[in-house]
Amino acid sequence: MAENASSTKLQLLHLLKRKSPEFYSGAALAAETGLTRSAIWKHMQNLKDQGYQIDSHPKRGYRLINAPDLLSPEEVLPVLPTLWLGKPYHYYPRIGSTNDRALELAGQGAPHGTVVVAEEQLAGRGRLGRNWLSTVRRGIYCSVILRDALPVHEAPQSTLVAALALARVLSNSYHLPAAIKWPNDVLVQGRKVAGILTEMQSDQDLVRFLVLGIGINVNHSTSEMTGPFRYPATSLAIELGHPIARADFLAKLLAGLEKDYDRFRSNGFAALLPELENLSATLGKTVQTTFREQPLSGRAIGLTPEGALRLQLKSGEERVIWVGDVTHIEEVDS
Ligand code: BTN
Repeated sequence: MAENASSTKLQLLHLLKRKSPEFYSGAALAAETGLTRSAIWKHMQNLKDQGYQIDSHPKRGYRLINAPDLLSPEEVLPVLPTLWLGKPYHYYPRIGSTNDRALELAGQGAPHGTVVVAEEQLAGRGRLGRNWLSTVRRGIYCSVILRDALPVHEAPQSTLVAALALARVLSNSYHLPAAIKWPNDVLVQGRKVAGILTEMQSDQDLVRFLVLGIGINVNHSTSEMTGPFRYPATSLAIELGHPIARADFLAKLLAGLEKDYDRFRSNGFAALLPELENLSATLGKTVQTTFREQPLSGRAIGLTPEGALRLQLKSGEERVIWVGDVTHIEEVDS
């Protein structure tokens, strides 16, 4: 079941947070919200059930001691500065896959900007049929619905726009040296910290709706990140040396994505190209990929104005890779 915070619960929490660590009297809360004392009590019980540590005192009222690290609407919406992204915001403590749910909601007409977030995925999916590790309350598992008549051939660019937004939040707000591994991974110190799975339904020329599924390893421990991954993996907590508040991170990411997506749609993909090239982990490397079902290796020398990867083969010939996975083989001095 989706949990969408009632505005009353949001308001109560906002008041408690503003006053914390002081008490807020029951009478003052009732006056502020228009609720009865017993309705307030019920909301407080509900918040405690969600993991909020709240002190209740018969005379002094209520005070917030600690808020849980959740991606619930109560934690994310008050810090989300977006205009259209995350409206509406669907939250699930546990789900099969946020991408599956987003595709279902989009099929039922969910608007542009709808976001689906879960604390845990039982069937988190990666690209090319792989699984995505979705341990409860460790990562961010989030899917964004876009439906703004994007031309079909521009759909892959939206993956790069999301990767750019994510890499920028990591570098600007968390001072982590993030880089984009073409076309859909974000790396820190050469290890994968996030991946993007883009799925869509389209007519002949236009995207009917597109779902950007973003998975980020946030507070996973070293032992969780040493599993049988296809690519060396890490988490933000490992790289920073401490856990981070996931709600703040998600709010920053959605704000950055809204800004970059708006730039992409108003000014075109080419406007983002220099930043994408600057933050690329792939350019300058020799990479291996498949081209028309044959293995191909070459040096990644740039992106085309459409976001495809330009490879220079040993023969000097150039090939453009539009889709697929690349493996970085070695760094090339230039
Ligand atoms: C990849 O690197 O292969 C892409 C991983 C994408 C994982 C995210 S988690 C949220 C969304 N729901 C899913 O089932 N997958 C994506």
